Amino acid sequence: MEQRTQIQLIEEIRKRITNKETELGEKETHWLVSDYYDSEQYTKEFSMIMNQPLIVAHGSEIPKVGDYISKTVMGVPIIIIRTPNKSVNAFVNACKHRGASLVLKDHGRIRKNFICPYHGWAYDMEGNLCNVPDKERSFPNLEMNCYPLSSLPVSERHGFIWVRLNQEKKSEERTVNVESFLGLQLDQEFKAYQFDQYTFYRKESWRMKFNWKCGVEQFLENYHFAFLHKDSTNWLFLHNLAICDQFQNHIRGIAPKRSVKDLFQQPVEEWDLRPNATILYTIFPLSTFFIEKSHLSLLQIFPESPETSLIEVTHIVQEDCLSKRSFWEENIRLFKAAIMEDLETCETMQVGFRTKANKHLIFGRNEVALAQYRECINKSLEEDKVKLP
Ligand code: FES
Ligand SMILES: [Fe+2]
Repeated sequence: MEQRTQIQLIEEIRKRITNKETELGEKETHWLVSDYYDSEQYTKEFSMIMNQPLIVAHGSEIPKVGDYISKTVMGVPIIIIRTPNKSVNAFVNACKHRGASLVLKDHGRIRKNFICPYHGWAYDMEGNLCNVPDKERSFPNLEMNCYPLSSLPVSERHGFIWVRLNQEKKSEERTVNVESFLGLQLDQEFKAYQFDQYTFYRKESWRMKFNWKCGVEQFLENYHFAFLHKDSTNWLFLHNLAICDQFQNHIRGIAPKRSVKDLFQQPVEEWDLRPNATILYTIFPLSTFFIEKSHLSLLQIFPESPETSLIEVTHIVQEDCLSKRSFWEENIRLFKAAIMEDLETCETMQVGFRTKANKHLIFGRNEVALAQYRECINKSLEEDKVKLP
């Protein structure tokens, strides 16, 4: 984030403290509880997500030529590889012969080719089929250049690798336009963070029983801090004071820490928002960035069924801080403890949704970002409907 934006935000925080204000929408809004378990709604949302650029890794996870990772995202097994020209390719991890997984390990490095463990077909880093054992005799009619691995649109920007999973479009699109996805303003703001200079520290994932939207929404308001986090992180933050801004479908939320008040005594040129607030970006549709002083944690909530989700957390740190292992370990422990308070609450909410005791949820005026997020989902579902043949 540029210094100019930081100063504007800190000025706004000062104003809100003085006037006892927070971000407020025009009015409360009501949202159908059935959207959190209805299977038709889920199917529409799932295919909408497949059309969005999704972050699948940080570039530093595959720093050297031939480094790859493989993982399953939204049910699609993918391989991401660093190529000789230092760019990245993304392929579906399915051999063209009889469909076996080409790669079984979750990461590794190849010298030249991927070799399928089933019958030995080989593919180069561009996904071209380059060797078929017993080709002349057994596959005399096979045109090698007609069977490259299925590739997915992929780009590396702001240090992260972004992929679009939908393969049904059959488009020739090779890259993901992250700049237009984020919008010029947010793209510039991300550029200033220089996340491409950061290094992958750790990733972990686990499954929980709630609808994916419920998980993402947990981090779009801070009204709950004084209650849900009263024994963990609440002491750090100003109560019920937030700043929210929308950038296309994405939302930036600022949760100011109590320490922000100390800045008001200092010259404006020295103001630094990062140590004095948690800066959150909800990157549509399922990723939340938590920006801290010298690291960031990326929380992603992938839908697995209408009422279950896969949670993935990736921690990225400034490279020169990499050696402070005990510091990061403690930091990650505290982060996990806090987000588990949120996510375990989601599980209780999901049980409540299922009872059908409530037809609607109410988002307060001070939970305006929740309403903005749901409007973005609805808008994207509408856009998907229009695109259908
Ligand atoms: S399935 Fe890969 S070589 Fe046969
Ligand atoms: Fe929370």
